[in-house]
Amino acid sequence: MSHPLVAAAARGTLPAWAEAGPSRREHIERVRALLDEWAAALDLPPAERARWCAAGVLHDALRDAPPEELRPHLPAKLRELPASILHGPAVAVRLRREGVTDRGLLRAVGFHTLGHPRLDDAGRALFAADVLEPGRKSRPEWRRKLRARFPRRPVEVTREVSRARIAWQLEDGRPLHRHSMEFWNVLARSTPSSPDKGGS
Ligand SMILES: [Fe+2]
Ligand SMILES: [Fe+2]
Repeated sequence: MSHPLVAAAARGTLPAWAEAGPSRREHIERVRALLDEWAAALDLPPAERARWCAAGVLHDALRDAPPEELRPHLPAKLRELPASILHGPAVAVRLRREGVTDRGLLRAVGFHTLGHPRLDDAGRALFAADVLEPGRKSRPEWRRKLRARFPRRPVEVTREVSRARIAWQLEDGRPLHRHSMEFWNVLARSTPSSPDKGGS
């Protein structure tokens, strides 16, 4: 049995304490719908499919909260993160405080922006879906192809999203977090070189 907050999220309902405006809620719903579609295509058991949807709904629940209000609630190690990354860990902290014990789900939500070497399948899918959801305007063809490929090649698609995120950070001259690099290393070791050269 999942926690009531997680069960509600799986049905598309944000927690009462969520701070997410209308356009954010639309993004959240697109991420949830994409995760639901992938979980169905992968023929996951109903409970796991619900868990993927819950991760999608919860990941940006505090995205529109003022970052400086979130920062003091985070563990010391995460308190120094850039403002735009604080919302994931903040949701994880809040869910844990509310009694959610699913560590994979907490990690999925907490590290949906950075990535993390120990993300489980739900966490990897959320990491990819957040970037690939169809509402994002840039590189629509790249996103469409990867969305379609995910159910056949989830690790390769996640690897490509991780590669792209890291490339964007390098292009902007921003520092890379250790978890992002370690996540990349895990994915790079478990898949052949570029999926775009390898066929289907
Ligand atoms: Fe986010
Ligand atoms: Fe998001």
